[in-house]
Amino acid sequence: MLHFTLYPVSAVDSTNNYLRELKEQHELSEGTVILSDFQSMGKGRGRNAWYSGKGLNILMSVLLYPKIPATKLFYLTEIASLAITDMLKVIGIAAEIKWPNDIYVQDKKIAGILIENVFSSDIIESSIIGIGLNVNETEFPSDLPNPVSVKSAGGKENNRNNLVKKLLEAFKSRYEQFLGGQLSALHIDYNALLYRKNKQCNFVFRGRNFQSTILLVKENGEIILQNADGEQRKYAFGELEMLL
Ligand code: BTN
Repeated sequence: MLHFTLYPVSAVDSTNNYLRELKEQHELSEGTVILSDFQSMGKGRGRNAWYSGKGLNILMSVLLYPKIPATKLFYLTEIASLAITDMLKVIGIAAEIKWPNDIYVQDKKIAGILIENVFSSDIIESSIIGIGLNVNETEFPSDLPNPVSVKSAGGKENNRNNLVKKLLEAFKSRYEQFLGGQLSALHIDYNALLYRKNKQCNFVFRGRNFQSTILLVKENGEIILQNADGEQRKYAFGELEMLL
């Protein structure tokens, strides 16, 4: 059973960093959640930053001790992605998952996930699942490619506390689905919500642009594409960029 302990704060550099530092100083239980109104150095994946206006959105990090082999790492991505899409569904927003873990409403990004793990040999000892969900932001900086928020997507609820509660409920039920061994159900649900599945998309691989169709994502997180000749190829996250 997963129990959450919430620590709301007004400002941190990054909720992921703050939770990691707190964990280094104290013994924290699984389900510790840092929620912040603002991040001065919000992190996205790679070298990206994560933008969020003060007090407008959900910025949170959840601590897990999964103790699972590294081969099962991608399930953490599936749990977090589906928790967000489940919650959005409850408030009337049909969202999809852009591989590997961006949450999209139509062609716009509503949420991002940054997972940072600590391994002990082959085992994932701890995992910090950082979630940034745009809730009440309506004016984004012009250099952000395609953002959208719960409010601008017409969500039925935009009270942040209520949404955090719903999001954590969804997270708990997806994590417990995983702990209960229902891995294929999780994986089927993830693939069912895959953004642009069975559609031809533009990609960049090692500096070369090409078109291919998204077939599915494997349990290890690799995506399988099929080109016009019917040839299938798999790619790991980080080596392939999808162009919108
Ligand atoms: C991405 O889409 O590139 C991932 C964005 C993740 C942003 C969240 S906001 C809460 C947590 N703290 C961070 O510094 N990043 C994650």
